[in-house]
Amino acid sequence: MSDTDIVKFATEGNRDLHILFGSQSGNSEGLAEKWQKEAPRYGLNPTVHDMDGFDIKSMSEMTRVMIICSTWGEGEMPDNAEELYDEAKDAGKILSKTNFSVCSLGDTGYDLFCQSGKDWDKTLQDIGGSRIYDRVDCDVDYEMPAEEWMKGVMPKLACVGDDGAFVPGLEEKMIAYASGMEIDEPEEEMEAIGGTTAYQAMATVPLFFKKPNKWLKRVKGVLAEDDLPTTGIEKAKDMFKELRKITLKSLPQGRDYIALVDNEKCIGCTQCVYYCNFASIDMISWDLNARTSQFESKKALILDDTCVGCTLCAFACPVEAITMESKV
Ligand SMILES: Cc1cc2nc3c(=O)[nH]c(=O)nc-3n(C[C@H](O)[C@H](O)[C@H](O)COP(=O)(O)O)c2cc1C
Ligand code: SF4
Ligand code: SF4
Repeated sequence: MSDTDIVKFATEGNRDLHILFGSQSGNSEGLAEKWQKEAPRYGLNPTVHDMDGFDIKSMSEMTRVMIICSTWGEGEMPDNAEELYDEAKDAGKILSKTNFSVCSLGDTGYDLFCQSGKDWDKTLQDIGGSRIYDRVDCDVDYEMPAEEWMKGVMPKLACVGDDGAFVPGLEEKMIAYASGMEIDEPEEEMEAIGGTTAYQAMATVPLFFKKPNKWLKRVKGVLAEDDLPTTGIEKAKDMFKELRKITLKSLPQGRDYIALVDNEKCIGCTQCVYYCNFASIDMISWDLNARTSQFESKKALILDDTCVGCTLCAFACPVEAITMESKV
């Protein structure tokens, strides 16, 4: 396929992409929203769907589907995905031209790691969907693996034609098209088309962003050669995961429990506030006149109406000031 053909393929006909998210605390939703901005680079026209209220039958008309879903409770769907998943399980073979891939968010500290994503992956295949790219199961530090998945699945879906069929041999050119890099074509393919060259034709397509090719190549070359040092946070990740597993197993958790701060122990460091995904922790001034710095005179306070008992704050507290208590 020539450069002009790839432009035509990427910009004409049905280019719809559907991104569905199942999310409790916003991580999957955030990724869905972020990634919809990437889609136009591949000539795709994205729509983000909350799984809540989505009609499973409408998926039969969709040719390109990305699923991003977290796992909650003990291997369960997030609240907004439960109903749709139940409907999907009983839907029968309703999909015939739907290409899909699943990104699951989870936490290896739980026994049923990324179970919801695994369930979606299997169920979509059972009801007739075609897995176009392998599922990724992401741990708490999900950003990097999730981003890699997106970069793998988006060009694949962009190579799906109007009829839902994947066009083989197109992917490299699609990636080049999306990155704005020049495509390595023999010189003779650069002939004029209706007064413009193929590359000029590409440049007139509004969704095409051209970047300096040589500069990108040089940066990639330098990065590939360099033995880059591992950062402190990178080194600490494995330890972080192990610690999280231990604390998670040793702490009571879930909606029947709530975090409780011991004021005597709290040093007001605010660490727990940053860990809480539910904005359930406030730093409250206790007017402790004996203390001089404002930092130390504030204590963490758990907001009991929004705390879901996830234990992240207890894990984060450096002085073990937070315990998990039963609500009843
Ligand atoms: C109360 C609670 C229960 C969870 N249960 C599981 C689980 O069973 N399996 C798993 O892999 N992850 C589990 N997780 C981790 C979440 O899936 C993970 O934090 C994910 O990034 C949340 O994404 P979301 O904000 O899109 O819902 C749980 C998290 C919480 C707070
Ligand atoms: S347990 Fe802690 S981190 Fe989790 S929701 Fe409650 S206050 Fe937030
Ligand atoms: S992490 Fe611990 S010490 Fe720091 S503010 Fe929260 S409860 Fe207090």
